[in-house]
Amino acid sequence: MKIKPFGVEIWMNEFETQCKYNLAETCVASLTVEQLLNISGKGNTILDELLPMKLTYGEIEGSSRLRDNICGLYESQKRDNIVVTHGAIGANALVHETMISPGDHVISICPTYQQHYSIPESFGAKLDILWLRPENDFLPDLEELGRILRPNTKLVVLNNPNNPTGALLMGANLEEFVAVVRTSGAYILCDEVYRGTNQVGNGFAPAMADIYEKGISVSSMSKVFSLAGIRLGWIAAPREVLEAVSIRRDYNTISVGMIDDYFASLALENKEQIIGRSQKITRGNLKILDDWVSKEHSISYKKPQAGTTALLKYDFNIPSRDFCIQLLRETGVMFTPGSVMEMEGWLRIGYANSPEVLSQGLNLVSNFLAQMGSR
Ligand SMILES: Cc1ncc(COP(=O)(O)O)c(C=O)c1O
Repeated sequence: MKIKPFGVEIWMNEFETQCKYNLAETCVASLTVEQLLNISGKGNTILDELLPMKLTYGEIEGSSRLRDNICGLYESQKRDNIVVTHGAIGANALVHETMISPGDHVISICPTYQQHYSIPESFGAKLDILWLRPENDFLPDLEELGRILRPNTKLVVLNNPNNPTGALLMGANLEEFVAVVRTSGAYILCDEVYRGTNQVGNGFAPAMADIYEKGISVSSMSKVFSLAGIRLGWIAAPREVLEAVSIRRDYNTISVGMIDDYFASLALENKEQIIGRSQKITRGNLKILDDWVSKEHSISYKKPQAGTTALLKYDFNIPSRDFCIQLLRETGVMFTPGSVMEMEGWLRIGYANSPEVLSQGLNLVSNFLAQMGSR
C-alpha cells in the first residue's frame, strides 16, 4: 500500500524545533503536569494514586472511568459507544481502515487534515473532494455535495470545526448537511478534535455521533484540553461500527497507557476549568490576530468561527513554502505553508499559543512584511 507523505507532519518535524515563536502550533497552549495537578487538586496526593497502580494493559477499550467521563462531552453516548485510541490520529486511522475497501466511494471535505484524503486514496477508494471556498466562508456547498453523493457512497469525511480554515458547521447548516448525506445512507466521519473552541456560546457544536444515526465522532485530549503529550483520543460511534473497529484495533493498539488514561480522566473531571482556560486563550488571541490582520495591507483572511487556526492570504508573488522558510530564518516565527495542505498562496497560522508568543510573533511578522513590500 503506497501512501502520499503527510505534508503538515513533515513540515512540523523539519522545523518545529528550530523556531522561537511557534505560530504553527494547533493545540491550545499545552498544560504542564504541575498545572494539571493543580487544576485537579491532586498536587499533594498524586503519588498515593500512582504508586499502587499496577501497570497492566488496563481495560482494553479504555477504563470505564475514562469512557464515562468522555460520555459527558456528548448528549446521548453511552460507555459502549466509546473506544479509546492513540490520539485522534489513531482514531481516524482506525475508522478509515475499518470502513474503506478498494473501490468504495468516499467524499472528503477539503482543506482538511491529510489523513482524511490520503488514507482513503491509499486504500483504493474512489475519492471525490468537496472543496471549501473562501467565497462560501469555507462552508460546504450542499448543492455540490448532493451532486457528488452516490447511492452507494460509503463515507463522507469532514473536520468540524475545520483545520485549517477555522470554519464551523453549526445550527441549520449542520442539520442540512446531515439531511443531504442521509439521502445516500453514507456514514459520516466527523473529526471533532477542535470541538469546544467555538468563539461564542459554550464553545461546543453538536457532535455528529449525537445527531446522525450513522455518525462517527473522533476527538482527543490534544487541542481544547491542551494535553497532546498524553496521546489519548477516542471514537464515539454506533456499536456496530465500534465492533468492526475493535477487530482492527486489536492488531495495532491493544490499549492505551494506564497513566495516560488516568491523566485524561483527571482532566475531564475538571473540564470546566480547562475548557474555560482554553476559551479565554482562543477568544482573546483571535482578537489579537483580527486587529493585526486589519492593520496589515498585504494580508487578508476569513475570520475563524472556531478552532485554533486561520488561513491567511498574502499579496506577494512567492510560493508559501519559500515565504515560511524565509520568515522562520529571518524572525524565528513559524507558520505553516498552504502548499502542505493543498492551499498554495495561503499561510496557516495557529493562534492558540500563549498570548505573549502570538503578540511578539506577529510584531516580527509585521517587520518582515514591511521589508518584503520594499524589496
Ligand atoms: C484535524 C485534526 N485531526 C487530528 C489531529 C491529531 O490529533 P491527536 O493529537 O489527537 O492525535 C490533528 C492534529 O493536529 C488535527 O488537526
